[in-house]
Amino acid sequence: MKENKFEFSYTVYDNIGELPEDEQWLLQEAREVTQQAYAPYSHFQVGAVARLANGQIVAGSNQENASFPVGLCAERVLLASVSSLFPKVPIEQIAISYNSEFQKSDHPISPCGICRQSLQEFESRVNHPVELLLGGMEGPVFKISRASQLLPLAFTSEELH
Ligand code: THU
Repeated sequence: MKENKFEFSYTVYDNIGELPEDEQWLLQEAREVTQQAYAPYSHFQVGAVARLANGQIVAGSNQENASFPVGLCAERVLLASVSSLFPKVPIEQIAISYNSEFQKSDHPISPCGICRQSLQEFESRVNHPVELLLGGMEGPVFKISRASQLLPLAFTSEELH
């Protein structure tokens, strides 16, 4: 019998101004992309913007539906767009931000469980880590060096062949 332990560390910046300029720009884009969300039910707008290995920038935002489970998170809209527009091109970094009609956007949010699963598989199929930059409209910013760190003991495609 033995105990296993998972550990991961991430960087906390006090505010966007502490980031390198290119990362400030990416997070600022994610903040702006929240305006493209269609979120009339949750009133919670999420923006996700990726910088790809080929230098391209791709954006996604959450898209809801009156049939609530049909809605898509910003992260998965983004991943689907990247895979469609630039198949097999790795993502270097994704910045994620949000705006809410009910609470202040003053702290980072991190991807939901389904999006963690999708991010994990994107990383493994292009064999490249996806760095996450998480921040609200103001306040601290988290940097996570690979998205799959958010999903320890993941169920992966390895089990299916
Ligand atoms: N949402 C995202 O787009 N990304 C997240 O990381 C968390 C939640 C969306 C789903 C839904 O449209 C709204 O935010 C409220 O849950």
